[in-house]
Amino acid sequence: MSDWAQLMLDHCQQLMLLVDPATLEIVQANETAAQTLGYGVEQLRGMPITDIESALQDVFYWEEVRSGLPQEVRGQDGEYRCASGDMLSVSKTIQRVSSGDATLLLVQATVTQQERQMQDALARTLSQLRATLESTGNGILVLNWQGRIDGMNQLFGKMWGVSQELLQAQDDAALLAFIARSVQEADLLRARLSAVMDARETQDLLHHQDGRVFELSSRAQYLGEQIVGRVFGCLDITERVRSEQALRESRDLLEVRVQERTAALAAANETLQAEKAQQAVLIGRLEQAQNQLLQSERMASIGQLAAGVAHEINNPVGFVNSNLGSLQHYVSDMLRLLAAYEKAEAGLAEESLAPLRELKQSVDVAFLREDVSSLLAESQDGLKRVTRIVQDLKDFSHVDEAERQWADLEAGLESTLRVVANEIKYKADVVKEYAGLPQMECFPFQLNQVFMNLLVNASHAIEGHGTITLRTGQDDSAVWVEVQDTGKGIKPEHLKRIFEPFFTTKPVGQGTGLGLSLSYGIVQKHDGHIEVASELGKGTTFRVVLPKKAAPKPAA
Ligand SMILES: Nc1ncnc2c1ncn2[C@@H]1O[C@H](COP(=O)(O)OP(=O)(O)O)[C@@H](O)[C@H]1O
Ligand SMILES: [Mg+2]
Repeated sequence: MSDWAQLMLDHCQQLMLLVDPATLEIVQANETAAQTLGYGVEQLRGMPITDIESALQDVFYWEEVRSGLPQEVRGQDGEYRCASGDMLSVSKTIQRVSSGDATLLLVQATVTQQERQMQDALARTLSQLRATLESTGNGILVLNWQGRIDGMNQLFGKMWGVSQELLQAQDDAALLAFIARSVQEADLLRARLSAVMDARETQDLLHHQDGRVFELSSRAQYLGEQIVGRVFGCLDITERVRSEQALRESRDLLEVRVQERTAALAAANETLQAEKAQQAVLIGRLEQAQNQLLQSERMASIGQLAAGVAHEINNPVGFVNSNLGSLQHYVSDMLRLLAAYEKAEAGLAEESLAPLRELKQSVDVAFLREDVSSLLAESQDGLKRVTRIVQDLKDFSHVDEAERQWADLEAGLESTLRVVANEIKYKADVVKEYAGLPQMECFPFQLNQVFMNLLVNASHAIEGHGTITLRTGQDDSAVWVEVQDTGKGIKPEHLKRIFEPFFTTKPVGQGTGLGLSLSYGIVQKHDGHIEVASELGKGTTFRVVLPKKAAPKPAA
């Protein structure tokens, strides 16, 4: 062989071995083979090929060659044993070559060790990737640049409820359409699944028709600068959303509770304040009631006093009255006697007449005669007034209060008017329009109390000077007594409260708010009622209506 040829052989990238099929010995090897296997070229010469190709199937092959069945081999994977004992992966070709009469076998091998390692590494990586994909909690879908499904983990299929048939049908469009259809945001999802080449990352909240909530994120898959597909990660966040919602709700609830509690506290506080105010009012009323009691006690003792005084005065007034009657009689008799004596004067002697004339002049008989009768008349008049006052005092003292009596209401009105005359006379003219009522069986002094209250209220209502009209009337079943004033009237909002005990619009000290409530009670006891008509600024009319056939209940 020429040096040139040897040079070319030695620098060839492949391992080259020339084998004698009869002995299976290596006849010739190139430098690449010697270096790769770790032998010298000399060492290789004469070495059985099965020392290098020592795998079982190779040994069988070479035995067949030795028996005369040399088969050619093309691109077959195999393993070569090196001098160090290491095994080397190779891809080999064996072909027959002829040199003169002899036929030899040329073995050419390429080392594939690195390639194999890379393939193994790739396989490992792929299986790791697969395992990772399957063990992650996200459903993962990978689309290629054409929008076709490149991969999908099992969780993704399970999350979306993709049926086995649909998976096996290999119809990507149908599968993607199914997925898009199963959420409320179908259009959005459809857009996301078809925007494979979008460089942006996306994240969307999707509501599955069955109520679950998914968070779907996607990002482009790059090979270098080039987008080659898109990876979708899908997370079921239903529980998270629910617990967030529950948290929000319970927080809201808590807020509402706090607000309610605050409001309740405020209300309680208000109630407390109101109760305090009410207590203050009640205390005020109690004080007033106490005053009223004191007052009525005082009135009662004044009444007793008046009754006693009336009784005491009644006797002397009685005998003074009868004495005065007698006295008038006597005086007129004596005047008649005096007239008779004067007539007889003409027949008297001058010496007895002179002293008489002198006496007559000194006592002024003419005046005496005139004045004595007017004195007597005045005294009788004064006495009449005293009698009436005594009667009023008796009336006022309610001496016979517990007894029902037949009484004249108009007379009662008159006597009450005299008692309150001082209160009224500077404020109002009193007009009387009496109808002439029949006698009534009643508690007259209590009714007088009612009339007194109405009269005093009427007088209080008049600012400046006005008129109080007292009117009576009757029909078949009832009698009525009216007290009308030209006072300031009652406000509509007060109208329904005036009969409440202690309701008063008058300043402290002036009004007790008891007058009308007492009156109401008394009239009710007579089975009657009180009517009110009032016009602001014009005046008020109170009408006491009493049934004629009333059977008053026993006095309280
Ligand atoms: N004739 C009236 N005109 C105007 N207001 C009246 C009249 N009578 C009663 N009132 C009103 O009714 C209230 C209650 O009257 P009353 O029970 O007698 O209590 P008092 O006179 O002590 O206030 C009075 O404070 C007043 O506001
Ligand atoms: Mg009053």
